[in-house]
Amino acid sequence: MFENLAAQPADALLGLIKLYNADPRGDKIDLGVGVYRTATGATPVFGAIKAAEAKLLETQDSKAYLGPDGDMGFVNALIPYVFGKDFDRSRVDGMQAPGGTGAVRLAIEVAKRAGAKRIWMGTPSWPNHAQIVSAVGLELKTFSHMTADGFADLDALKAALAKAEPGDAVLLHGCCHNPTGVDFTEAQWDEIAPLLVEKQVLPLIDLAYQGLGAGMEADAYGLRKVLSLAPEVLVAYSCDKNFGLYRDRVGAFYAVTSDAAALANAMGNGATIARASWSMPPDHGAAAVRLVLEDEGLTAQWLAELDDMRGRMRQVRDRLAAAQQVGPIAMAPLGVQNGLFSMLPLTGEQILALRNDHGIYMAGSGRINIAGLTSSNIEKFIDALQAVTG
Ligand code: LMR
Repeated sequence: MFENLAAQPADALLGLIKLYNADPRGDKIDLGVGVYRTATGATPVFGAIKAAEAKLLETQDSKAYLGPDGDMGFVNALIPYVFGKDFDRSRVDGMQAPGGTGAVRLAIEVAKRAGAKRIWMGTPSWPNHAQIVSAVGLELKTFSHMTADGFADLDALKAALAKAEPGDAVLLHGCCHNPTGVDFTEAQWDEIAPLLVEKQVLPLIDLAYQGLGAGMEADAYGLRKVLSLAPEVLVAYSCDKNFGLYRDRVGAFYAVTSDAAALANAMGNGATIARASWSMPPDHGAAAVRLVLEDEGLTAQWLAELDDMRGRMRQVRDRLAAAQQVGPIAMAPLGVQNGLFSMLPLTGEQILALRNDHGIYMAGSGRINIAGLTSSNIEKFIDALQAVTG
């Protein structure tokens, strides 16, 4: 029977992890999958998370099921960080999800059940967005996320919204755009939010990198602007990066409405989708996040660790920007982009040459993980870039 299955290509980004691991070169550089790395190339567990895990080991007295919405203490503890301290709590409810991917899946499924037939998305985007949209069965409509000179393309979004119909969903990256690092400015969000309302579309904000761009508060600007005007919003949240919990799969799905019954329906539908998909999300990482957020000292420690990450990525960006021009590539924009990623205008051949000739691994789109660069490999990277593009 399985011969009837269409062969599937392996996921290119996740495939890079294996290719990189199999490369015996000592000076290889991993700019592939989006994990933060320190100046020595490590991805350590946050100190605040280690402390929370120790506490969990001591205090957790049961591993009995929690239910499809997972650890609601975790879900609620995040709300002030995501939505703002003063946000009207009666308008928002959420549930835990397995990573940002689980949260995006829930959001798109709920949007479909609520009647959305199409979803608008700027491209390039995280490749899994389109895969999830296709798996859920919505029609994907795309527009360009970025202008030729490297800014967020507000005109393209406006043109897309002009064609959108009431009830369409619009997927926007809250911050640290993946894969380009090019975010809408605050002034652009100020224009986007009322337009979304005017067009009666359903905003779906994917916030997977809060705190890695300009800070926890600043990175929520766009989402909060939309929340201040739109009657209904869906949010897919990930703690994989900002708490360093990648493999523990820690995310949350939130719905915001102005009607209590509609909110209960959104959550009820989320719960049935979760039940039929993974039944209940994994507990450990979310419990650790909850323990961090319930403890002032651990919260301060976590925020300081997040500041360090952001500071290091800024330093790498500053060094890349200082290179000004590498072959045909203008490097200055990398200095003002945000988060883990930037995208270089490289051909497939150049990307392959970087891998084969220089041991430098990056996504086929030309996306690089900024955190893969350190003071000991950044010069080699710039030289290799020059060699393959020169
Ligand atoms: C990435 O974009 O590298 C990360 O979000 C990991 C993933 O799941 O693709």
